[in-house]
Amino acid sequence: MIRKGIILAGGRGLRMSPLTLSVNKQLLPLYDKPLIFYPLSVLMSIGIKRILIIVNKGQLKQFRKILPEKNNLGISIKYKEQAKPGGLPQAFTIGKKFIGNDSVSLILGDNFFYGKNLSKILRKNINLDSGVKIFIHPVKKPSLYGIATIDKNKKVINLVEKPKKTNSKFAVTGLYFFDNQVINLTKKLKPSKRGELEIIDLLKFYKKLNKLKAEFIGNGSLWLDTGDIKSFYRASNFVSNIESKKGLKIGCIEEVAFKNKWINKKQMKNAINFYGKCNYSKYLQSLIV
Ligand code: TTP
Repeated sequence: MIRKGIILAGGRGLRMSPLTLSVNKQLLPLYDKPLIFYPLSVLMSIGIKRILIIVNKGQLKQFRKILPEKNNLGISIKYKEQAKPGGLPQAFTIGKKFIGNDSVSLILGDNFFYGKNLSKILRKNINLDSGVKIFIHPVKKPSLYGIATIDKNKKVINLVEKPKKTNSKFAVTGLYFFDNQVINLTKKLKPSKRGELEIIDLLKFYKKLNKLKAEFIGNGSLWLDTGDIKSFYRASNFVSNIESKKGLKIGCIEEVAFKNKWINKKQMKNAINFYGKCNYSKYLQSLIV
């Protein structure tokens, strides 16, 4: 059973420069909240209460301002710094102590997921003790993504990074469930040509061991990698549209905590004080009247 989650919130954010020269991408506003609220809310929505956030060296202070360890969410937040963006699998060396002997989920800090049944689908896969579960979603341009080919049992039979030609259109999204072997397998990784450890190489180790399976995030779900300006604003517009149409909030971490019964009305009031007078606080207030 997965009870721990790592959010990778470092990175260079080069594609978003100059926005990211002085501010970490995950702290930029995706419509009305910092981007990191969205992946955090995904982990919380599936019951994960123990969270490690990995940030760039020197950026801890900014993150702590918005997501302090002593939070109003009823969860445990810990931080670690990454000396340099050396690749996604570094999450498992940096997070070794946090992971301990457990399985762990990893979510990329710039990935946006949305779907009515999403948390139900993810929760169905949370009892992972052995191997890896990746979450896939069909895309129009496979050449831009890591692409998985699966058999009828959803076992992954091929994995290619940004293929020029492929028979599959299933992209590997930025959410993964790993068993504890991930710590040892990461040690075997060598940097790629671009000088980073690659998550696809790590997944390939599991594929060799016959332990790599995929799950669809579902037809009704949306996944956006918000790594460049266009997709960032597409996601931002999406949130704005849904929120104003439906009168609800996406990625509202206090709401998830409250629905999970991790916080009570008093803690919700603390959260409202924490944010001060703003629309976000008004929304929180509306949840407890
Ligand atoms: P990437 O898309 O690989 O990199 P990036 O977001 O920094 O963007 P760019 O290519 O424009 O420079 O990263 C995916 C996510 O993982 C993103 O949320 C940043 C995070 N990340 C880390 O935290 N540490 C790392 O070493 C890397 C490579 C990424």
